[in-house]
Amino acid sequence: MKIFVLFLVTIMMTMVQNAASQDVPPYKNPALPVEDRVEDLLARMTIDEKIGQMTQLNITMINTTGQQRDVELVPEKARDLILNHHIGSFLNGESVPAEEWYDYMSQLMRISVEETRLGIPVIYGIDHIHGASYLEGATYFPQGINLGATFNPEHSRQTGSVTAMESADLGHHWVFAPVLDLGEEQIWPRFWETYGEDPYLASVMGAAYVDGLQNNEEIAPYKVTATAKHYMGYSSPGSGWDRTPVQIGMQAIHEFHRPSFQAAIDAGIKTVMVNSGEVNGVPVHASYHFLTELLREQMGFEGVILTDWADIDKLVNFHRVSENFTEATLLSVMAGIDMSMTPDNLQFNDSMKELVADGRMTEERIDESVRRILRLKFDLGLFEHPYPRNDRFDRIGAPEHTAAALSAAEESLVLLKNDGDVLPLANPSTIILAGPTANNKRNLSGGWTIAWQGGEEERYPEDMHTIYTALQEEFPDAAIELVTEMPAADDDAAVQAFMNQLDAADMIVYAGGEEPYTEFVGNIKDLTLAEDQRNDLELLGRSDTPLALVLVQGRPRIITPVYSSLDAIVHAGLPGFEGAEAIAGLISGSINPSGKLPFSYPQHTGHYLNYNHKSSDVYFFNPQEANHIAQGSPNTSLFQFGDGLSYTQFEYSDLVLDQAEVTDGGTITASVTVTNTGDREGMESVLWFTRDMVGSITRPVKELKHFEKIQLEPGESRTVTFAIVPEEKLWFPDEQGNKLLEPGAFSLMVGGLQTEFTLQD
Ligand code: BGC
Repeated sequence: MKIFVLFLVTIMMTMVQNAASQDVPPYKNPALPVEDRVEDLLARMTIDEKIGQMTQLNITMINTTGQQRDVELVPEKARDLILNHHIGSFLNGESVPAEEWYDYMSQLMRISVEETRLGIPVIYGIDHIHGASYLEGATYFPQGINLGATFNPEHSRQTGSVTAMESADLGHHWVFAPVLDLGEEQIWPRFWETYGEDPYLASVMGAAYVDGLQNNEEIAPYKVTATAKHYMGYSSPGSGWDRTPVQIGMQAIHEFHRPSFQAAIDAGIKTVMVNSGEVNGVPVHASYHFLTELLREQMGFEGVILTDWADIDKLVNFHRVSENFTEATLLSVMAGIDMSMTPDNLQFNDSMKELVADGRMTEERIDESVRRILRLKFDLGLFEHPYPRNDRFDRIGAPEHTAAALSAAEESLVLLKNDGDVLPLANPSTIILAGPTANNKRNLSGGWTIAWQGGEEERYPEDMHTIYTALQEEFPDAAIELVTEMPAADDDAAVQAFMNQLDAADMIVYAGGEEPYTEFVGNIKDLTLAEDQRNDLELLGRSDTPLALVLVQGRPRIITPVYSSLDAIVHAGLPGFEGAEAIAGLISGSINPSGKLPFSYPQHTGHYLNYNHKSSDVYFFNPQEANHIAQGSPNTSLFQFGDGLSYTQFEYSDLVLDQAEVTDGGTITASVTVTNTGDREGMESVLWFTRDMVGSITRPVKELKHFEKIQLEPGESRTVTFAIVPEEKLWFPDEQGNKLLEPGAFSLMVGGLQTEFTLQD
């Protein structure tokens, strides 16, 4: 026995010695804590290797054609950048088949893992913002503005989760979503990427997305990180145009713009992408205050801060705060960025080396960023599982994913007007369908779909419905008459014939709105609905046949001039690949609309307010008033935040508080009963608002504090509750971001009911 034990011990010792002699460095040992691995690896790296980790380059630098769409890797190009310049990250692409991504990523990863001295895997970033949008055959969810309209965080979670399921296997480690900016500037060309104008809604939706994307265990052994973008204030430019200057007081930054980013950080988001524009005179990429003091020290973000596209260069050529790229690099890195999306040259590497050589950039500062980047790579398991796999491609576009996207699209449609209950349309024999979006796929999904500005029409799946084909399928017994050209207004005979055609139909559906766009490509000068569409609607409105306008658009184009001729209005937004089916279902009534506007729909081009405006925002001359001043009246939106009709009716009653007074540390439980008083099943988002009646910093007239979506059968009632915890729901920040909790009176509003309570000292 003794001999046997001795024998075993000897064998084990030999094994340990062998392992040691093979010299597996500690950073390659997954059993060690991540921090130990990071430090071990960092200690082995040269300065140039560290700088390379801080660089992200575009796909066009390593593919055959230099085009975004091309994922054919040129190994020599990749080798040069990875072996000689130590590049640690790449990004981008366009929609191509999974096999092509698989080949490309396999080769790219292999070069970084097997051919470099230390074998540090590259991390790949991609704009899969509403599903795996750069992958052929993937599931495309509605865009952010539609997810906001669902008021159902499950849809946001599903968007993240399905994106991970369909693309993690391809080596898409780093998804550049969610967009946590606010949709409060309606002409801004990225309005539709947001969850709407409300900070709380954006916080809940954003956090759900992060959870769905980052915590999806079905993608094991892989992990994916989300990106909180674009930090911060990007969405409120004075001119309404992309990347143009923003002036917001710091108090408003803390109160309105910070919460969605804070919620994502609290949900464990690992990376942040920076706003390309300036805020209060300082480009955010150059702002130590925003990147270090606020984001890191105050908000507690410990992950990787990535620049947006070429934004160090923009400090020189766009913002003009630096004389040259090297100065801009110094400014930006010292402000707090960790990685430069350079993205198509080696200027960042060269500048960093120059700064180190001149003694202006310390290795300690570089180490801080590289630590974060390596930690991200270890956390994502890239060292253990660097290679993509191709044995689960049946997940891509799986029926249950498509069903989730359809359900999100359905809940995202907002019925805004339905005079005379013209919808739903029962047993029609003829529907006239017109408008630029009537028989078109690309308009339904907007930008960041197949390609940056949305793919060309022929790149959309053959089996994807347009509104026209979806209506044909939904109404198999009806004639759907597609009008591709309106008669010329001065051709009386043609107009008369057209009127006869319209008069004979049961309904006219006009699918209007916008073509896809994003970023500065989508800058416009006038928010009014395009003139040709207004003319079309004017002509169609002359008929007595009910006219329904379906708005497929990325921002609320002003429809006031044609409003009175419309019997029904559906805000379809950008509902994604399943959107047409959802729209047809809403028209037929096979689905009951439940979306609510996540923004205020403007009535005028010259004046609009967000729903959570200040009381003094409404101040105008009114000869009827004794002092000629009208103040504090409802805002002038055509439709309000939270508006949205159903085919059934919901009645709110019995708004009750368990106590009318609360102190810090206590809770008021509010409850309200919602009854479906109509004759069909429906869903209702119950939105709870508060108003702080007096505040040392002026308070919004209304603030969304809680929401919940419920489903009710006809005649069914449900009592829902809202726990008002003062330290969570009743505070507001000062200019430094300190929480102020001021005693006094509050109003509570839900479904048209209102009551009051008091926060005691
Ligand atoms: C956009 C980002 C995007 C990045 C990478 C930038 O122009 O502002 O939202 O993630 O490009 O494509």
